Amino acid sequence: MSTELLVCENVSKHYQEGSNKVQVLDNVNFHIDKAEQIAILGSSGSGKSTLLHILGALDTPTSGSVLFKGTDIFSYSEKQQARFRNQSLGFVYQFHHLLPEFNAIENVAMPLLIGKVDRGDATKQAANMLDKVGLSHRIKHKPSEMSGGERQRVAIARALVTQPDLVLADEPTGNLDHRTGQSIYQLLNELREQISTSFIVVTHDTELAKKLDRTLLITDGKLVRQEP
Ligand SMILES: Nc1ncnc2c1ncn2[C@@H]1O[C@H](COP(=O)(O)OP(=O)(O)O)[C@@H](O)[C@H]1O
Ligand SMILES: [Mg+2]
Repeated sequence: MSTELLVCENVSKHYQEGSNKVQVLDNVNFHIDKAEQIAILGSSGSGKSTLLHILGALDTPTSGSVLFKGTDIFSYSEKQQARFRNQSLGFVYQFHHLLPEFNAIENVAMPLLIGKVDRGDATKQAANMLDKVGLSHRIKHKPSEMSGGERQRVAIARALVTQPDLVLADEPTGNLDHRTGQSIYQLLNELREQISTSFIVVTHDTELAKKLDRTLLITDGKLVRQEP
């Protein structure tokens, strides 16, 4: 049986600005296996966020396909895409995107509630996940009452609470100081021993990239290197 979770095939994306064609992604090919962790490196403007958005069915490629467990995600109906994002994916962004009026446990439970898990179970699973990210003492705190690193831990708990197949993280430590960023990556490393989620992490941190299974380097929308 194939261990490929997601396959990105000949994905290109361009924008037409008047007579000018802006090529953002140029024939990108790679795959990610179950439980594999990949770093994507590349300078600002190289197309990393665009690629993650396409992998998460939040944007469409101009050409090419993205196969998730063998099925093209762009052949899904809107309802199936929403379900795919809610059940199979987790997202972590540079800014935490937590809901300010809700506390940590409510924020983490949100994807479960959206997925129609009953409130009691959702709360239990959210508490369990907050414990895993080291925040069992902060579950009633609102985002404004937490540090930047704590907020990002909550965001990671929210991304993982549905036990997704794949987490897409776009510069998850880009807004944190170096030490706090390191502790977030330490956490991701610890979590991978407990859960079998695949990760694609966009980062500028080459040290972190070395700790993951594989690194992809993107330059001007082209995948120029895969290592090791
Ligand atoms: N809606 C858009 N219209 C035109 N160009 C865009 C649009 N969105 C992104 N781009 C361009 O695509 C390129 C890649 O952007 P992005 O994927 O955000 O890069 P990165 O995340 O690597 O910094 C940039 O040059 C950006 O200006
Ligand atoms: Mg970006």
